[in-house]
Amino acid sequence: MINNKSSIIQLENIFKIYGSDETEVKALNDVNLVIDKGEYCSIMGPSGSGKSTAMNIIGCLDRPTSGHYYLDNLDVAQMDDTELAHIRNKKIGFVFQQFHLLPQLSALENVMLPMVYASVDSAERRDRAAEALKRVGLENRINNKPNQLSGGQQQRVAIARAIVNRPVLLLADEPTGALDSRTTQEVLDIFTELNTTGITVVMVTHEPDVARKTQRIVWFRDGQVVHSHLTPADLTQMAVS
Ligand SMILES: Nc1ncnc2c1ncn2[C@@H]1O[C@H](COP(=O)(O)OP(=O)(O)O)[C@@H](O)[C@H]1O
Ligand SMILES: [Mg+2]
Repeated sequence: MINNKSSIIQLENIFKIYGSDETEVKALNDVNLVIDKGEYCSIMGPSGSGKSTAMNIIGCLDRPTSGHYYLDNLDVAQMDDTELAHIRNKKIGFVFQQFHLLPQLSALENVMLPMVYASVDSAERRDRAAEALKRVGLENRINNKPNQLSGGQQQRVAIARAIVNRPVLLLADEPTGALDSRTTQEVLDIFTELNTTGITVVMVTHEPDVARKTQRIVWFRDGQVVHSHLTPADLTQMAVS
């Protein structure tokens, strides 16, 4: 495949194999996927179809067994752990279903954490963390601890933490899985807003209503991409047929 300059994610013949012989599981079985800069995508598919495995590779949290992965035109599949950690910190923000906030720290301190590794001085860390919290509408909550915040507010803190290093790519694995429908909408509105400012957003979800808020749906089955370009309208048709 020719390296595509407008792409931010380019997965080429990606395999991820767990175990060996009779216990072997092909979590990813020859995945090819290109996502362009500026897209807002969701990833859907049955449980066990390889969505989280793919997200972990896309997010440089894990390496494929074989294949090539170009992230922002860098070939990352064969990088060592130190290089991967550096790329991850610089280019990618993560949001998970569980918010993973540190309970003893305030919202502001939680959001400051990723900058410890980015060699930013402490005054600027505070300013940037406050600015990120403002972007998610939590400027009045910066001194609250996680247990003083609702689930939706905690997820917004996690989003602020994910964007504070100004990533080009935001990855979210079931980010609304623990939220009610109103706070789900708040989180999706923030993703849409971030996407309009240029951040590429890729989100795993099993909820069609959530996926329909994105521009493009990628469908996994049995470790493969079986549909790479579904539209929200396609998804509606699939649900009724
Ligand atoms: N660390 C692991 N060791 C062994 N098998 C795994 C591991 N992680 C995932 N799998 C298997 O790989 C397949 C894909 O899993 P996963 O990517 O978590 O699917 P999804 O996120 O779509 O539910 C499943 O069969 C799962 O059991
Ligand atoms: Mg999963």
